[in-house]
Amino acid sequence: MKRLALVLAAVFLTGCFGGGDGDAQAQKSIQLGNTAFDKNCISCHGKAGQGLVKDWKKTQANGKYPAPPINGTAHAWHHSPKALLTTINDGGIKIGGWMPGFKDKLSEDEKQGLLDYIHDLWPNEIQQKYNVRFK
Ligand code: HEC
Repeated sequence: MKRLALVLAAVFLTGCFGGGDGDAQAQKSIQLGNTAFDKNCISCHGKAGQGLVKDWKKTQANGKYPAPPINGTAHAWHHSPKALLTTINDGGIKIGGWMPGFKDKLSEDEKQGLLDYIHDLWPNEIQQKYNVRFK
């Protein structure tokens, strides 16, 4: 019985990493994230996370920085998966910014979906550098 469980676990794991069902699951999560992004984040981070301004390093009239692009062209990929999730949960107010926190507004699945969606926006070479850095 124990042996059977092990075999099943192995089959399940290869399924996850070898494509097939795993891919479908990943696509579903990205889709969920995409919907949550369009609803909650697009107003500041722009369509597909490209930002709303030309120069995100220039402060606005209110003295704050605009929302940075999160599509791999700014700094998001310098930050660990945990740091990105913390920003989604707590926003940026604690660190002197103005992004609202989404801790109680989104489900854990939606947050994971948002992370998956954000990664999906990054060019391959950025994702590869990220993997080397954080995995
Ligand atoms: C009201 C505007 C606003 C909204 C809405 C918003 N953000 Fe932000 N976001 C910002 C700003 C501004 C920053 C930079 C930190 C700060 O100043 O608070 C930021 C930073 C981030 C970062 C960190 C980027 C980095 O370089 O590490 C991530 C990730 C992020 N936002 C994701 C999201 C997601 C996902 C949503 C939707 C659930 C969202 N944001 C909604 C304004 C916003």
